[in-house]
Amino acid sequence: MTTPPANPDLIHLPNPTDSLKACIQRNPALWNELRTEPNRFRVLTGERTTGPLHVGHYFGSLRSRVTLQNWGVPLFLVLADYQAITDRHATAGIRESVEAILLDYLAIGLDLEKSTPFTHSMVPALNQLVLPFLSVVSMAELQRNPTVKEEIALSGTKSVSGLMMTYPAHQAADILYCHGNVVPGGKDQLPHVELTRLIARRLNNLYFDGRPYFPETELLLSETPMLLGLDGRKMSKSLNNAIYIGTAEEDTARLIKTAKTDSDRHITYEPATRPEVSNLLLLCSLCTDETPDQIASQIGDGGAVALKKRLTEAVNEYFRPMRARRRELSKDMGYVLSLLKRGNDRANEIADRTLAELRIAMKMSYYSP
Ligand code: TRP
Repeated sequence: MTTPPANPDLIHLPNPTDSLKACIQRNPALWNELRTEPNRFRVLTGERTTGPLHVGHYFGSLRSRVTLQNWGVPLFLVLADYQAITDRHATAGIRESVEAILLDYLAIGLDLEKSTPFTHSMVPALNQLVLPFLSVVSMAELQRNPTVKEEIALSGTKSVSGLMMTYPAHQAADILYCHGNVVPGGKDQLPHVELTRLIARRLNNLYFDGRPYFPETELLLSETPMLLGLDGRKMSKSLNNAIYIGTAEEDTARLIKTAKTDSDRHITYEPATRPEVSNLLLLCSLCTDETPDQIASQIGDGGAVALKKRLTEAVNEYFRPMRARRRELSKDMGYVLSLLKRGNDRANEIADRTLAELRIAMKMSYYSP
């Protein structure tokens, strides 16, 4: 006799502080397991298609995806085009963003034949999963999501779209359609991963007799501290303060010249009191083998001018081979888009299967297909 499944209403979101603590504690072991048992995992990650990827994305997450790929972990990469319209109506620029991101992926060394890149809009069964998913979350749970709240505040909009409120459930579908059990990301992704786990547990209890049909996904925190933009604010396309993977060398130099610093000519690494200067040192350190403190002491009284010169050289040198590869690949967008088509075909196969299995479990399979 199996014990009856727990009442799904009794499954709740954990306290955010506890959940972050647990995640931080689990992280080293999770990295280790990914390295030693890559086949136990399926990693799902990706981005909204709101522009090309910048050096913050690179050091924060793209670089570690290449590591995971090289360990043999299967990667699914969502180009979240429906999520790009959570806070805007205009779809102009989405196509260009999809192309730019694919080029960025290839430039940094992701193998898009091995991994599975896909766009929301081309995988209908994934989107249909959102309906049963939404049925098991409450309005209060959606409204409580701190990442969504912050994004709404940042966007400055008065009228919040239904898609904005529900996109974390959509994100759960991105993850669960392919049974993704690891999502690399920053702390801001934790509420989404917690919601994904909640949906998985409730659906497993409701329709699968408590069997783990959907996995309980874990967040894999990246090791790199958050890079700020050149003005000390969040690095973002709309703030025009980002260096992109594909930015040309002259433009990189020009952008870094405009970077905000402070009035103290002596360069030191003090993130708490000198965030702008320290951020430039951090980026420089990520592009070289030296620590921010070492770079600071070499520059010393050279001031912001010397720091910026050093940083420009470091960034341009680090990204030169990737940029060259990116330029080369951009000449053959037909090939690049054929990789997306392959990814979408594979994503559709998997999503169709998951939806069919869920439909059977939900007793909504009325005749064989
Ligand atoms: N929300 C992510 C971002 O803003 C993008 C994203 C969409 C995503 N679906 C996902 C990330 C699933 C991880 C897993 O960048």
